[in-house]
Amino acid sequence: MAAPDALKREAPDSLMLTGFWYRALPSEKVRGSALQKAMLLEIPLVIGRDRNGKAFALRDACPHRGMPLSCGRFDGEQVECSYHGWKFEAASGQCRLIPSLTAEQNLKIDRIYAGSFACEERDSFIWVFIPDPGPAGAGFTRRDDPQNPAPQVPTFSEKFKTAYLSSAMPSTVDHGIIGLMDPAHGPFVHQAWWWRSQHSIHEKRKHFEPIPNGFRMSAHTPSSNSAPYKLLRLYADADSITTTIDFVLPNLRLETIRAGKYWFSSLTTVTPITRDQCRIDVVACWNIFRFVPFGPSLLKFVFAKFVEQDRRTMELQSEGLKHNPHLMLIDDADRPAKWYFGLKAAHLEAKRTGEEMKHPMGGPVTLKWRS
Ligand code: FES
Ligand SMILES: [Fe+2]
Repeated sequence: MAAPDALKREAPDSLMLTGFWYRALPSEKVRGSALQKAMLLEIPLVIGRDRNGKAFALRDACPHRGMPLSCGRFDGEQVECSYHGWKFEAASGQCRLIPSLTAEQNLKIDRIYAGSFACEERDSFIWVFIPDPGPAGAGFTRRDDPQNPAPQVPTFSEKFKTAYLSSAMPSTVDHGIIGLMDPAHGPFVHQAWWWRSQHSIHEKRKHFEPIPNGFRMSAHTPSSNSAPYKLLRLYADADSITTTIDFVLPNLRLETIRAGKYWFSSLTTVTPITRDQCRIDVVACWNIFRFVPFGPSLLKFVFAKFVEQDRRTMELQSEGLKHNPHLMLIDDADRPAKWYFGLKAAHLEAKRTGEEMKHPMGGPVTLKWRS
């Protein structure tokens, strides 16, 4: 067996990937003409909605002298800075008014911009695109728009239910992500009488394959003996249950379970807020048990319990990480974590060279572990 790989501490600037969409705030937190603060990748943001309800995101610092724009006034179209009253178009950040200018001072104010970010609303969240850091001279540049739309939870029927959950984690985005894809902590962290105990540990084999920017675990369960699966198969009247879990850079975990005409899917993201804080957001959609009245609340309860166990674990782990201990990743249970670091490194390398990204996986792999 190969020696365990040391988990290298990444350079701080490679810790958080730019050039991607990130979940900024739950949609319901941004209402009317109120301005909300948010933080993504250590960038302070002010988020609001224009008169038509369309969300926008600006850097929460006036390009004049840095006053947070969230302290200003918003009329549904323009944000007015509370320091000297400069006004900016909410959607584009373009400057519209500098009250101190006299009639003969012809500063071209429409060439001044407050930092502005592309913004889209999907599945109960406002997503913000964090571009690669641009050339200096910010304050005079209009933003570039992203090439891809924000990610979305896949759905497979017209009617379905949906719920979301958020939890702030006191850990770097990397520890948040590898914690999310780690199969070996289940029996120790997620114990519950109705779920499993340490004694239920058994050997597992899972199939993985490379996908663009990530990897997929796929499972086809024609005859699983576990109680929830048996129940589901019976209920769905399906021959088999197919589960796929994708991880895609920078921070997306997509899970889809399909059984006949029934399905469940979720999109979990681990969002870097600052260098040592992240937030886990789970959005789930399903048409299984749609007619059970307590379906969403029960599911939310189970999810919340899991996420809280992870949060508590990371809180304790952050104590241990404070003083830079030596860490390691072992095969096979930590192989997905190694792929994650490999993907990140390959992505950054491809960006640096302009060449196509070299995927860290050579092809499909079967991993074995006990959990
Ligand atoms: S700091 Fe905003 S207008 Fe001067
Ligand atoms: Fe967990």
